Amino acid sequence: MTTPVKVAVTGAAGQISYSLLFRLAAGDVFGADVPVELRLIEIDPAMRALEGVVMELDDCAFPNLVNVVTTSDLKVGFDGVNWALLIGSVPRKQGMERRDLLGINGGIFKPQGEAIASAAANDVRVLVVGNPCNTNCLIARENGKDVPADRWFSMMRLDQNRAMTQLARKANRPVTSVTKMAIWGNHSATQFPDFYHAEIDGVEVPKVIDDHDWLNGEFITTVQKRGAAIIEARGASSAASAANAVIDTVRSIATPTPAGDWTSVGVVSRGEYGVPEGLQFGFPIRSTGSSWEVVTGLVHTQAAQSAIDTTRDELLGEQSEVTELLS
Ligand code: NAI
Repeated sequence: MTTPVKVAVTGAAGQISYSLLFRLAAGDVFGADVPVELRLIEIDPAMRALEGVVMELDDCAFPNLVNVVTTSDLKVGFDGVNWALLIGSVPRKQGMERRDLLGINGGIFKPQGEAIASAAANDVRVLVVGNPCNTNCLIARENGKDVPADRWFSMMRLDQNRAMTQLARKANRPVTSVTKMAIWGNHSATQFPDFYHAEIDGVEVPKVIDDHDWLNGEFITTVQKRGAAIIEARGASSAASAANAVIDTVRSIATPTPAGDWTSVGVVSRGEYGVPEGLQFGFPIRSTGSSWEVVTGLVHTQAAQSAIDTTRDELLGEQSEVTELLS
């Protein structure tokens, strides 16, 4: 029998996980013939709710799901895992300063980084989803240095998917015709959805969509503010689409990027495009399935470069607020 892929998920009783775990167990991520072991990590107060989720997993009788472990002990949770999906975090509440949020999340992601480095499998890859995901990833990565820096990722894919749909709708084309959709910077309202380099049926977007006011205005703000719009409409944050983006991200990292395309992920900067080395930054990347590289050589307009500088500065500001947590 094929060796199971061991996947740790934190925040396993939360909303995103409720949409994610069943697809992981069904084989949507690693393939229908690959057995999966889930290691579900939660804080103690959520353990009862997690028991309910596990009952439902049991009741699906997924042929691929060979084992489920639930725990609040990080060493147990991350033991031998090949993938760690760090979803659990504390959302910003009314009256909470961004600084408080970063401090609280630092308390979560520092020990998680340490535990992954000491307990996970040699080939572990880590995806941070819990917000602020780029800086949380930076904290975990810096505290888990035994795991090479290029195996830590933060999620920009929901923004990529949102942007692709907006462009496809405007051009009246299927979403599959949109390629090379890069999201630069932070997964926040400063992110830059780069329509200049995106293509529809292989043609640059500004040549296909002639409403440049829309591209420069409504398109960008719709993508940047989509999370808030969903909260406003649904009364709850985007969970199903976020779970779907987790699946897309893991697949895009673990399989070769199709020719003529790229994918957006937060990765460690090696100084590309003037982004300081070490910052966890949303870039377009290409993967071979086992390694990846940032797409280089893209030339930015002045407006695009200025947008990238803005989101870079926001991330640098976040980094400066957590310096004491970076080893
Ligand atoms: P949720 O509040 O429904 O669930 C979060 C879960 O995390 C809760 O069950 C909680 O008990 C658990 N948790 C808290 N601290 C933990 C810890 N130290 N260890 C393990 N589990 C812990 O939230 P939801 O909707 O599932 O979202 C999770 C995170 O994902 C939030 O931070 C949200 O802002 C973020 N998010 C990120 C997106 C992205 O594109 N990067 C998109 C959407 C959401």
